[in-house]
Amino acid sequence: MKIGILGAGHIGKALARLLAEAGHEVGISNSRGPDSVVEGTQTLRDLAHEIGRGVKAFSNEDAARFGELVIETIPFGKYMDMPAVQMEGKIVIDTANYYPERDGQIDLGGLSESAFIARHLPKARVVKAFNTISAAHLETLGDVGKPVGERRAIFIAGDDAEAKAVVTRLIEEIGFAAVDTGSLEDSRVQQPGTPIYGPDLTATQARAALQK
Ligand SMILES: NC(=O)c1ccc[n+]([C@@H]2O[C@H](COP(=O)([O-])OP(=O)(O)OC[C@H]3O[C@@H](n4cnc5c(N)ncnc54)[C@H](OP(=O)(O)O)[C@@H]3O)[C@@H](O)[C@H]2O)c1
Repeated sequence: MKIGILGAGHIGKALARLLAEAGHEVGISNSRGPDSVVEGTQTLRDLAHEIGRGVKAFSNEDAARFGELVIETIPFGKYMDMPAVQMEGKIVIDTANYYPERDGQIDLGGLSESAFIARHLPKARVVKAFNTISAAHLETLGDVGKPVGERRAIFIAGDDAEAKAVVTRLIEEIGFAAVDTGSLEDSRVQQPGTPIYGPDLTATQARAALQK
């Protein structure tokens, strides 16, 4: 499928490579646009070329327009920069974690982090995923050769069952196992500081951990 990725940092790059290797068409954006260079950094176009497999360098708007599914993996505090109009009707994977010391003080209005993001994307079908795994482990721990129950768990949450099924399939295609924590509001259980945030659990261990 066509996948647009907003953010070309640790997680954006890892997902672009994994999903392109799995046969998807990927377009990626950053804060600067395809050709802009900030001292000492490569352009996004060079980065896309380095990832290979036809990955395209886009603006945020073009990446969102391109994707049948859009992954938002920019710093939480930049949520206002997501092109909400171009994301309407799309399945959106939200990888973001809110760290006030990095992102500044943001009033979430009592919402979970992903429900807050979803409020900014009113017509998108938001699924939280990939927020509990480090980029290094995302790069290395996927194994399509393992039975799903023995794979490293990727926790997911969302209010749209069909969207969660699509995201589950993508997660399995890149060698992980999706473990559902419930609705976007329930996704609090997979936010920073919770027992399941960080440890490398298999899907079987992850389901047991959620029972506790
Ligand atoms: N790192 C991890 O292991 C990890 C694990 C799970 C979840 N997460 C979460 O995933 C999100 C991304 O993390 P990361 O570590 O990949 O971040 P990162 O390495 O700091 O990269 C952030 C990327 O977002 C881009 N960006 C920043 N502002 C933007 C904007 N307004 N529009 C478009 N792109 C923008 C940056 O572009 P420029 O290069 O142009 O600045 C950069 O490519 C965060 O919410 C983080 O908490 C991270």
